[in-house]
Amino acid sequence: MEQYAIKGGNPLVGEVEIGGAKNAALAILAAAIMTDETVLIENVPDVRDTNVMMQAMESIGAIIERIDRHTVKISGKAIKDLVIEDDFIKKIRASYYLLGALLGKYNKAQVTLPGGCNIGLRPIDQHIKGFRALGADVRIEHGLIIAEAERLKGGHIYMDVVSVGATIDVMLAAAMAEGQTIIENAAKEPHVVDVANFLNSMGASIKGAGTDVIRIKGVSKLHGTEYTIIPDQIEAGTFMFAAAVTKGDVTVKNVIPKHLESISAKLTEIGCEVEESDDAVRVVAAKPLTHTHVKTLPYPGFPTDMQPQITVALGLSKGTSIVTESIFENRFKYVDELTRMGASIKVEGNTAIIDGVCKYTGASISAPDLRAGAALVIAGLAAEGTTVIDDIKFIERGYEDFDLKLQSLGAQIEKISSERELRKFRLKTG
Ligand code: UD1
Repeated sequence: MEQYAIKGGNPLVGEVEIGGAKNAALAILAAAIMTDETVLIENVPDVRDTNVMMQAMESIGAIIERIDRHTVKISGKAIKDLVIEDDFIKKIRASYYLLGALLGKYNKAQVTLPGGCNIGLRPIDQHIKGFRALGADVRIEHGLIIAEAERLKGGHIYMDVVSVGATIDVMLAAAMAEGQTIIENAAKEPHVVDVANFLNSMGASIKGAGTDVIRIKGVSKLHGTEYTIIPDQIEAGTFMFAAAVTKGDVTVKNVIPKHLESISAKLTEIGCEVEESDDAVRVVAAKPLTHTHVKTLPYPGFPTDMQPQITVALGLSKGTSIVTESIFENRFKYVDELTRMGASIKVEGNTAIIDGVCKYTGASISAPDLRAGAALVIAGLAAEGTTVIDDIKFIERGYEDFDLKLQSLGAQIEKISSERELRKFRLKTG
């Protein structure tokens, strides 16, 4: 089993290139099979989740050609099977996008119920409600979601919760439905807009993505396209917080600063300097960090996917901070691991009360999920001594070359897979 060994204490300094947005890529890859023509997608991050998604697409007959590490050519022309039971696909939450894409194109789909990060109950009732509003019959049998319709017809859907997944999934299914679909209380995340832009580049007619109300005029056919995925807001934010906790000076490059506003605002509040330019953001942490309060919210609020990273920073900030998680109900599991590193955090329901400590100390810990795993790496980078993190497969679901990018900023981090390698790492790092 691979682990990360980290020797903390080095401030991160330098520039880092941010890759394509994983969560946009997952939906865009699935959407690419909605035409029989060829689609070229650039800036696809080479992470486990996107690779699993492409593997599932291939299992039903999609032809996927990797042009280079981040560019893929996809053809959905030869799809012959509308049943996705691939064992891997259960591991990624975004498997539900194949449901929307296949239902939208073929009026029928059967996909294994999604899994993904274990961060609380993750129902898909809003996806199902949306498909039903388009006239589909949806049922769950033998662990599969089965959706079928004679013909999809546009409908009016009010989402009971703001859901990124359901908004995108209904957009996919409605792109070729007959007539107009209106999604109210839609999610406004940058990747919702990116998926709408992608579908529009294939000939769809989607207006209002990025606002509460999305209007989709069904078209009879989608065509091939070439498209570049937006940068990953969460990968960028993770490096920005890594700069903050290591008292570093990091410029994240190839980003859209507007997408990072809530993250930049919190970093400024806790005492960092944040400089924005056209496609880069520089974070300088020259002063001691101070406490703040934060509540996760749908975009443009502070992202739930950045909650563990800000908690790690606040754990080292002067004073008492409060972090409220309002999207997922079980997203503080990593706090036990952080406590082993010396943090003083009390969790009550969906709130963490954090008393800042002056340092973390290295420990052997496990990554409980993707973002919490990345946050624990950041804690290790700031800690005194060596930290060993297990279960890094979770981190690799969403971060490409995380260890290598951190190394390029001066971090002492290595992937190891034996006691012997750990001993070597300890000897090397002193
Ligand atoms: C996506 C992201 C995930 C991020 C989350 C919130 C992907 C692959 N994952 O997940 O990284 O943390 O958005 O920004 O893009 N809900 C329902 N019924 C539904 C759907 C959702 O009640 O049918 C609830 C969820 O339990 C949660 C809230 O709505 O409390 C938001 O979830 P949602 O935005 O759908 O998250 P995901 O799309 O699963």
